[in-house]
Amino acid sequence: MQLFIDSADLVEISAAARWGVLGGVTTNPSLMARAGVSDPGQAVAAIAGRVDGPVNVEVLATDAGGMIDEGRRYARWSPRVTVKIPMTAAGLEAVHQLNKEGISTNVTLVFSAAQGILAARAGATYISPFVGRLDDLAADGMRLIRELADIFRIHRIATEIIAASIRHPLHVVEAARAGAHIATVPFKVLEQMIRHPLTDAGIERFLADWGAVGASHRATASDRGSKRELRVPGATNAQETTIGEGAGQCKNVPH
Ligand code: E4P
Repeated sequence: MQLFIDSADLVEISAAARWGVLGGVTTNPSLMARAGVSDPGQAVAAIAGRVDGPVNVEVLATDAGGMIDEGRRYARWSPRVTVKIPMTAAGLEAVHQLNKEGISTNVTLVFSAAQGILAARAGATYISPFVGRLDDLAADGMRLIRELADIFRIHRIATEIIAASIRHPLHVVEAARAGAHIATVPFKVLEQMIRHPLTDAGIERFLADWGAVGASHRATASDRGSKRELRVPGATNAQETTIGEGAGQCKNVPH
Protein backbone atom coordinates (compact mmCIF):
# COMPACT_ATOMS: atom_id res chain seq x y z
CA MET A 1 0.00 0.00 0.00
CA GLN A 2 1.25 3.43 -0.95
CA LEU A 3 1.04 6.47 1.32
CA PHE A 4 -0.20 9.85 0.13
CA ILE A 5 -0.29 12.92 2.32
CA ASP A 6 -3.72 14.52 2.80
CA SER A 7 -2.63 18.15 2.97
CA ALA A 8 -2.17 21.37 0.99
CA ASP A 9 0.39 22.74 3.45
CA LEU A 10 3.77 22.98 1.72
CA VAL A 11 5.72 22.80 5.00
CA GLU A 12 4.00 19.53 5.97
CA ILE A 13 4.31 18.11 2.45
CA SER A 14 8.03 18.98 2.26
CA ALA A 15 8.74 17.41 5.66
CA ALA A 16 6.99 14.14 4.79
CA ALA A 17 8.64 14.11 1.34
CA ARG A 18 12.06 14.31 3.04
CA TRP A 19 11.20 11.12 5.00
CA GLY A 20 10.91 9.34 1.65
CA VAL A 21 7.51 7.83 2.41
CA LEU A 22 5.24 9.71 0.02
CA GLY A 23 3.75 8.40 -3.21
CA GLY A 24 1.46 11.37 -3.82
CA VAL A 25 -0.70 14.13 -2.38
CA THR A 26 -4.44 14.66 -1.94
CA THR A 27 -6.03 18.03 -1.35
CA ASN A 28 -9.61 19.23 -1.11
CA PRO A 29 -11.14 22.70 -0.89
CA SER A 30 -11.16 22.58 2.95
CA LEU A 31 -7.44 21.69 3.05
CA MET A 32 -6.59 24.39 0.46
CA ALA A 33 -8.47 26.99 2.54
CA ARG A 34 -6.81 25.82 5.78
CA ALA A 35 -3.35 26.12 4.16
CA GLY A 36 -4.17 29.70 3.08
CA VAL A 37 -3.89 28.88 -0.64
CA SER A 38 -5.12 31.76 -2.81
CA ASP A 39 -3.73 30.54 -6.16
CA PRO A 40 -4.34 26.76 -6.48
CA GLY A 41 -2.39 26.55 -9.77
CA GLN A 42 0.70 27.97 -8.11
CA ALA A 43 0.20 25.73 -5.06
CA VAL A 44 -0.07 22.62 -7.24
CA ALA A 45 3.12 23.51 -9.14
CA ALA A 46 4.97 23.97 -5.83
CA ILE A 47 3.63 20.68 -4.44
CA ALA A 48 4.50 18.81 -7.67
CA GLY A 49 8.05 20.13 -7.32
CA ARG A 50 8.42 18.43 -3.95
CA VAL A 51 6.63 15.08 -4.34
CA ASP A 52 6.88 12.55 -7.15
CA GLY A 53 3.49 11.05 -7.91
CA PRO A 54 -0.07 12.28 -8.34
CA VAL A 55 -1.26 15.61 -6.93
CA ASN A 56 -5.03 15.47 -6.40
CA VAL A 57 -7.01 18.68 -6.86
CA GLU A 58 -10.76 18.83 -6.36
CA VAL A 59 -13.23 20.55 -8.68
CA LEU A 60 -15.60 23.17 -7.30
CA ALA A 61 -18.23 23.02 -10.06
CA THR A 62 -21.26 20.80 -9.44
CA ASP A 63 -22.43 20.40 -13.07
CA ALA A 64 -20.75 18.03 -15.52
CA GLY A 65 -19.69 20.74 -18.00
CA GLY A 66 -18.14 22.85 -15.26
CA MET A 67 -16.29 19.86 -13.78
CA ILE A 68 -14.92 18.90 -17.20
CA ASP A 69 -13.70 22.47 -17.85
CA GLU A 70 -12.06 22.65 -14.43
CA GLY A 71 -10.50 19.21 -14.91
CA ARG A 72 -8.98 20.19 -18.25
CA ARG A 73 -7.64 23.42 -16.70
CA TYR A 74 -6.11 21.57 -13.70
CA ALA A 75 -4.50 19.02 -16.03
CA ARG A 76 -2.60 21.87 -17.72
CA TRP A 77 -1.02 22.86 -14.36
CA SER A 78 1.02 19.66 -14.19
CA PRO A 79 1.03 16.30 -16.00
CA ARG A 80 0.80 14.74 -12.54
CA VAL A 81 -2.53 16.33 -11.60
CA THR A 82 -5.36 13.96 -10.74
CA VAL A 83 -8.76 15.62 -10.85
CA LYS A 84 -10.90 14.90 -7.79
CA ILE A 85 -14.59 14.73 -8.60
CA PRO A 86 -17.46 14.15 -6.18
CA MET A 87 -19.58 11.00 -6.46
CA THR A 88 -22.69 12.37 -8.20
CA ALA A 89 -24.39 11.70 -11.55
CA ALA A 90 -22.71 14.83 -12.95
CA GLY A 91 -19.43 13.64 -11.46
CA LEU A 92 -19.68 10.27 -13.23
CA GLU A 93 -20.33 12.06 -16.53
CA ALA A 94 -17.27 14.25 -16.01
CA VAL A 95 -15.09 11.25 -15.05
CA HIS A 96 -16.22 9.40 -18.17
CA GLN A 97 -15.30 12.35 -20.42
CA LEU A 98 -11.97 13.18 -18.73
CA ASN A 99 -11.00 9.51 -18.84
CA LYS A 100 -11.56 9.51 -22.61
CA GLU A 101 -9.19 12.49 -22.81
CA GLY A 102 -6.52 10.65 -20.82
CA ILE A 103 -6.92 12.81 -17.69
CA SER A 104 -6.54 10.99 -14.37
CA THR A 105 -9.52 11.18 -11.99
CA ASN A 106 -10.30 10.37 -8.37
CA VAL A 107 -13.95 9.97 -7.41
CA THR A 108 -14.25 11.35 -3.90
CA LEU A 109 -16.90 11.22 -1.17
CA VAL A 110 -17.51 7.50 -1.74
CA PHE A 111 -19.54 6.00 1.12
CA SER A 112 -20.89 2.74 -0.34
CA ALA A 113 -19.70 -0.20 -2.45
CA ALA A 114 -22.44 0.61 -4.97
CA GLN A 115 -20.96 4.08 -5.49
CA GLY A 116 -17.48 2.60 -5.83
CA ILE A 117 -18.63 0.17 -8.55
CA LEU A 118 -20.25 3.01 -10.53
CA ALA A 119 -17.18 5.22 -10.24
CA ALA A 120 -14.90 2.42 -11.41
CA ARG A 121 -17.16 1.64 -14.38
CA ALA A 122 -17.24 5.32 -15.37
CA GLY A 123 -13.46 5.11 -15.72
CA ALA A 124 -12.11 6.56 -12.46
CA THR A 125 -8.38 6.09 -11.97
CA TYR A 126 -8.93 6.15 -8.19
CA ILE A 127 -11.87 6.14 -5.79
CA SER A 128 -11.76 7.60 -2.29
CA PRO A 129 -13.95 5.85 0.29
CA PHE A 130 -14.07 8.00 3.46
CA VAL A 131 -13.31 5.77 6.43
CA GLY A 132 -13.35 8.32 9.27
CA ARG A 133 -16.59 10.03 8.28
CA LEU A 134 -18.36 6.64 8.23
CA ASP A 135 -16.88 5.77 11.63
CA ASP A 136 -18.21 9.12 12.89
CA LEU A 137 -21.73 7.84 12.13
CA ALA A 138 -21.09 4.57 13.98
CA ALA A 139 -20.79 2.77 10.62
CA ASP A 140 -17.76 0.54 9.88
CA GLY A 141 -15.58 2.56 7.49
CA MET A 142 -12.97 -0.16 7.15
CA ARG A 143 -15.62 -2.70 6.13
CA LEU A 144 -16.24 -0.57 3.02
CA ILE A 145 -12.53 -0.76 2.12
CA ARG A 146 -12.62 -4.55 2.50
CA GLU A 147 -15.76 -4.86 0.36
CA LEU A 148 -14.37 -2.69 -2.43
CA ALA A 149 -11.00 -4.46 -2.37
CA ASP A 150 -12.78 -7.83 -2.70
CA ILE A 151 -15.04 -6.64 -5.53
CA PHE A 152 -12.19 -5.04 -7.49
CA ARG A 153 -10.06 -8.14 -7.07
CA ILE A 154 -12.84 -10.57 -8.11
CA HIS A 155 -13.68 -8.52 -11.22
CA ARG A 156 -10.12 -7.45 -12.03
CA ILE A 157 -11.04 -3.77 -11.88
CA ALA A 158 -7.97 -1.58 -12.32
CA THR A 159 -9.34 1.43 -10.39
CA GLU A 160 -7.24 1.96 -7.25
CA ILE A 161 -8.76 2.39 -3.80
CA ILE A 162 -7.53 5.34 -1.74
CA ALA A 163 -8.53 4.94 1.91
CA ALA A 164 -9.41 8.54 2.82
CA SER A 165 -10.63 10.40 5.90
CA ILE A 166 -7.94 8.67 7.95
CA ARG A 167 -7.97 9.71 11.60
CA HIS A 168 -5.28 7.68 13.40
CA PRO A 169 -2.40 5.22 12.80
CA LEU A 170 -4.60 2.16 13.30
CA HIS A 171 -6.72 3.27 10.34
CA VAL A 172 -3.59 3.14 8.18
CA VAL A 173 -2.63 -0.33 9.36
CA GLU A 174 -6.18 -1.63 8.92
CA ALA A 175 -6.47 -0.07 5.45
CA ALA A 176 -3.28 -1.90 4.43
CA ARG A 177 -4.69 -5.20 5.75
CA ALA A 178 -8.05 -4.56 4.10
CA GLY A 179 -6.42 -4.28 0.67
CA ALA A 180 -6.46 -0.52 -0.02
CA HIS A 181 -3.94 0.39 -2.73
CA ILE A 182 -3.25 3.75 -1.08
CA ALA A 183 -4.00 5.49 2.21
CA THR A 184 -4.05 9.26 2.20
CA VAL A 185 -2.88 10.36 5.62
CA PRO A 186 -2.90 13.73 7.42
CA PHE A 187 0.55 14.97 8.51
CA LYS A 188 -0.37 14.66 12.20
CA VAL A 189 -1.15 10.95 11.73
CA LEU A 190 2.12 10.39 9.80
CA GLU A 191 3.94 11.91 12.81
CA GLN A 192 1.97 9.67 15.19
CA MET A 193 2.99 6.66 13.08
CA ILE A 194 6.67 7.48 13.61
CA ARG A 195 6.52 7.63 17.37
CA HIS A 196 6.60 4.85 19.94
CA PRO A 197 7.33 5.45 23.65
CA LEU A 198 9.64 2.41 23.75
CA THR A 199 11.70 3.87 20.86
CA ASP A 200 12.12 7.15 22.78
CA ALA A 201 12.94 5.32 26.02
CA GLY A 202 15.38 3.05 24.16
CA ILE A 203 17.29 5.98 22.65
CA GLU A 204 17.41 7.71 26.04
CA ARG A 205 18.77 4.59 27.73
CA PHE A 206 21.40 3.91 25.03
CA LEU A 207 22.67 7.48 25.27
CA ALA A 208 22.68 7.44 29.09
CA ASP A 209 24.56 4.10 29.19
CA TRP A 210 27.07 5.28 26.61
CA GLY A 211 27.58 8.57 28.46
CA ALA A 212 28.18 6.85 31.81
CA VAL A 213 30.48 4.07 30.50
CA GLY A 214 32.28 6.47 28.18
CA ALA A 215 33.08 8.78 31.07
CA SER A 216 34.40 5.95 33.24
CA HIS A 217 36.57 4.58 30.42
CA ARG A 218 37.90 8.00 29.54
CA ALA A 219 39.01 8.27 33.16
CA THR A 220 40.61 4.77 33.08
CA ALA A 221 42.38 5.49 29.80
CA SER A 222 43.88 8.70 31.02
CA ASP A 223 45.05 6.92 34.24
CA ARG A 224 46.81 4.23 32.21
CA GLY A 225 48.20 6.67 29.69
CA SER A 226 47.48 4.09 27.06
CA LYS A 227 44.94 4.89 24.40
CA ARG A 228 43.40 3.59 21.27
CA GLU A 229 40.78 5.24 19.15
CA LEU A 230 37.21 4.05 19.07
CA ARG A 231 35.25 5.56 16.21
CA VAL A 232 31.65 5.98 17.23
CA PRO A 233 29.39 5.46 14.20
CA GLY A 234 28.00 8.81 13.07
CA ALA A 235 30.29 10.83 15.34
CA THR A 236 32.06 13.88 13.95
CA ASN A 237 35.82 14.20 14.52
CA ALA A 238 35.11 16.54 17.39
CA GLN A 239 32.94 13.89 19.04
CA GLU A 240 35.38 10.96 18.62
CA THR A 241 35.92 9.14 21.89
CA THR A 242 39.03 7.40 23.13
CA ILE A 243 38.90 4.43 25.45
CA GLY A 244 41.41 2.32 27.34
CA GLU A 245 43.10 -0.57 25.49
CA GLY A 246 41.90 -4.15 25.82
CA ALA A 247 38.42 -5.54 25.39
CA GLY A 248 38.42 -6.86 28.96
CA GLN A 249 38.49 -3.34 30.34
CA CYS A 250 35.67 -2.24 28.09
CA LYS A 251 33.18 -5.06 28.16
CA ASN A 252 30.22 -2.67 28.25
CA VAL A 253 31.42 -0.51 25.38
CA PRO A 254 29.64 -1.17 22.08
CA HIS A 255 31.96 -2.45 19.35
C1 E4P B 1 -9.09 13.06 0.86
O1 E4P B 1 -9.12 12.75 -0.31
C2 E4P B 1 -10.29 13.52 1.59
O2 E4P B 1 -10.74 14.73 1.08
C3 E4P B 1 -9.97 13.64 3.06
O3 E4P B 1 -9.29 12.47 3.46
C4 E4P B 1 -11.17 13.89 3.94
O4 E4P B 1 -10.80 13.79 5.28
P1 E4P B 1 -11.72 14.30 6.49
O5 E4P B 1 -12.92 13.43 6.58
O6 E4P B 1 -10.85 14.19 7.70
O7 E4P B 1 -12.07 15.73 6.17
